[in-house]
Amino acid sequence: MLAADGYLFATPENLAAMSGLMKDFFDRCYYPALDRLNGRPYAAMIGAGSHGTSAARQIIRIATGWRLREVAAPLIICTKAQTPEEILAPKTLSPEDQAECTGLGTALATGLAMGVF
Ligand SMILES: Cc1cc2nc3c(=O)[nH]c(=O)nc-3n(C[C@H](O)[C@H](O)[C@H](O)COP(=O)(O)O)c2cc1C
Repeated sequence: MLAADGYLFATPENLAAMSGLMKDFFDRCYYPALDRLNGRPYAAMIGAGSHGTSAARQIIRIATGWRLREVAAPLIICTKAQTPEEILAPKTLSPEDQAECTGLGTALATGLAMGVF
């Protein structure tokens, strides 16, 4: 975290929350990194079956505490997985969704490389 110039946080939304693994990552890093990341750019992408906004809200709240700078609105990719069978099945994103994810990563990387942020 300390060595990075910017951050792209990516998680599924499970039970109206970010993944447990990502939460554990934030739990472990939050206080050791507090006041050492101020102003660095970040964006977030969420894979969701139907919503995604709760996980996005949680990430924004943590990033705000870290004083990170949001450089794009959270990108929510809806896989429309609703039933247990659909949720447990492997998923392939549409080319359009993949392009949106690539676009967000490219925009963040390009902005960093050009010193825009
Ligand atoms: C335990 C569990 C809880 C879930 N809860 C939500 C939820 O609250 N909101 C939502 O939009 N999708 C929910 N989903 C659906 C996932 O977000 C969906 O499967 C999405 O595609 C996640 O990425 P994955 O395909 O890599 O699992 C849940 C999935 C699981 C397994």
